[in-house]
Amino acid sequence: MTRTSLGAPLDRVDGRAKVTGAARYAADNNPAGLAHGYFVLSTIAKGTIRSIDAARASAAPGVLAVYSHANPLRLLPPRSYIAQFIGEPQRAMQDAVVRHYGQIVAMVVAETFEQARDAAALVTVEYDAQPPAADFLAGVPGARDPQTPFGHPVTILADGVPDIDAALAASEVTHTAVYTQPPEHHNPMEPHSAVAMWDGGKLTIHSGSQGPALHALDLAEGLGVPQEDVHVIGPYVGGGFGGKATSWSPTLLAAAAARALRRPVKVVTTREQLFTVTGHRTASHLTVTLGARRDGTLTAVKNLAVTTFEIENPASPPTAAYKCPNLDLRLKVVDLDIPRRTIMRAPGYAAGTFGLECAMDELAHELGLDPIELRMRNYATASPDKGLPYASKHLDECYRVGAERFGWSRRKAEPRSVTDGQWLVGMGMATCVLPSSQHAGAARVRFRANGTVEVACNTADLGTGAMTVLAMAGADRLGLPVGRIRPALGDSTLPVAAEGDSFMGAVGSAATSTILSAVHDAAGEAITALIAHAVSDARSPFHGMDAQDVRYSSGVLEGGGRRAGFGELLTTTGTPGVEAVTTATLGEDTERYAFITSGAHFCEVRVHRLTGEARLSRVTCVVDAGTIVNGKTARGQIAGGVVMSAGQALLEGAYVEPATGRIANANFADYLVPVNADIPAVDVHFLDHPDTRYNPQGARGLGELTGTGVAAAIANAIYNATGTRVRDLPITPDKLL
Ligand code: MOS
Repeated sequence: MTRTSLGAPLDRVDGRAKVTGAARYAADNNPAGLAHGYFVLSTIAKGTIRSIDAARASAAPGVLAVYSHANPLRLLPPRSYIAQFIGEPQRAMQDAVVRHYGQIVAMVVAETFEQARDAAALVTVEYDAQPPAADFLAGVPGARDPQTPFGHPVTILADGVPDIDAALAASEVTHTAVYTQPPEHHNPMEPHSAVAMWDGGKLTIHSGSQGPALHALDLAEGLGVPQEDVHVIGPYVGGGFGGKATSWSPTLLAAAAARALRRPVKVVTTREQLFTVTGHRTASHLTVTLGARRDGTLTAVKNLAVTTFEIENPASPPTAAYKCPNLDLRLKVVDLDIPRRTIMRAPGYAAGTFGLECAMDELAHELGLDPIELRMRNYATASPDKGLPYASKHLDECYRVGAERFGWSRRKAEPRSVTDGQWLVGMGMATCVLPSSQHAGAARVRFRANGTVEVACNTADLGTGAMTVLAMAGADRLGLPVGRIRPALGDSTLPVAAEGDSFMGAVGSAATSTILSAVHDAAGEAITALIAHAVSDARSPFHGMDAQDVRYSSGVLEGGGRRAGFGELLTTTGTPGVEAVTTATLGEDTERYAFITSGAHFCEVRVHRLTGEARLSRVTCVVDAGTIVNGKTARGQIAGGVVMSAGQALLEGAYVEPATGRIANANFADYLVPVNADIPAVDVHFLDHPDTRYNPQGARGLGELTGTGVAAAIANAIYNATGTRVRDLPITPDKLL
């Protein structure tokens, strides 16, 4: 196939709009007559609302309405599978029950944002409070079995092995340790926002999401209207990371208030409110037990993960990482009176690879093996749980190339052996691993008389570069320059896949491969439709010819000595456009092979011997993701994942007060995320081994890859620098003193 543009490090097609402020994010929309909503949040974690006094707020300047369970905006519970599992089973303000601290208990709508915020401070709420269960670690010993299919245990035992404990007992060496991390918050740049307006019974809502079609479905279900009456527009999202995979009450309440008031309503969740009115990543407590022979060959892995969320399973990474004959992987769940949990970048794998990859480092140290050598001795060429061979896995090359680029051979195995003035210097590495997923997505490809081609997909660009990839996918398949492609996404009215699978949108690192397959098929059919039009339209120069005698190449039709560009053809025939809509079919190979994106991550850390401050000083990531569609946006994804994981390793964590259930650091002053000064230049290198059994272009997903492994590599480097093994994230200075 032609490679006209795939692989080029192309600038974002929307880059200029974004950096000049021309790109309109949800909250940038200001329709005439706009009113503004602001939330009042609960100040207890468990109990009931005894009374709400909204009199002073209602009388305040500019106030249009004060809603609460006593004066409700009725919302129906979510019915969709996805919303029930990863969204909110209970919509806000539907009853007097308080289920967590910071729950929406009232909403003030006023003429201006300031008036709404001011009046919200005048709402008085009285509660009958009960003591909440909010202490995660206290709940770990009594955790229950999960009830969803996501939490089912995985048990794989070699012939004749009765259970995992027997396999561990028969192992020459074992290593057990507990790895923990606190809740994390997605903190996208644009907080959850919506501008909602109704025209008769039809809703138009500007709201960034990871899947506009799923967002529309959630809204339709919540508002009790047909899905076709909801139009979600969100071409720019400002970050999702899983936090915008499903819809949260702020968006639904904006729509419900707009319907009740017959005016457009804008809601912008504040940074502080975001911590409790939308989902977050669960805390996790992971016990890893490795059994091995003295030569480092793994004989058994037993993982017991405890979280507050049935979907995010940190026990699962051994199903993707290494060859091992005996696995026993379990999840248990603690029920707490805390805000909702949802998926967050590399769900399960972020916390799970922190534990597993630290444990591998510890085992290597105990056995006197190089950490890369230990991993190579357990190299998997087939998926450990499915038993299917990996169609294309070059992690061994990642280790080799990464070690070379990083200078791994200069590492001293003995901890605390390298210093630079007051700084202890260490190197660490880890495997990054992410099972691949793609959806049978739909696309529409439309040749237009003006010489451009619209290429549309019902997905979202969270800031990942998906819009650019969409344009490149169209350009590549059609043999056209990217400049002649008009990409369209972030709109719920675009075609969706018949099976509803594409409702998933941009989740699971699946957007790029989904887009490529869908556009590949739709563009092929659009070419067929264009040729059919060329031979059937009486005004066409190809009229009357056999379709088989007309060829399409690079935007031009040729045959029987005649030749016309598609724009010229459509202009001649007086046709505005010719299009095809298809749902991609995923190849049979996805049943016969396993697919995985992997990489080797190396880092150097400097720890100050007096202050305990750990600073990341060098980073190398070598990634095997198949074909890289856009070297620039792909690099951004990998480096961005490193930044987020550096936060996981060194800075981030929500602190829930055990007695009150209040998040003590629900703001950017106290919940720390990395800034530019925290991150050195990130050396990203991609292998180029197209995985053509996965899709015609050979590209697997990579968006969440460096959400895995990186925190472990940092912790391993800190151990190498200091001799202190910290298994509780984030690794703050107090833990190193
Ligand atoms: Mo990602 S957590 O699958 O949105």
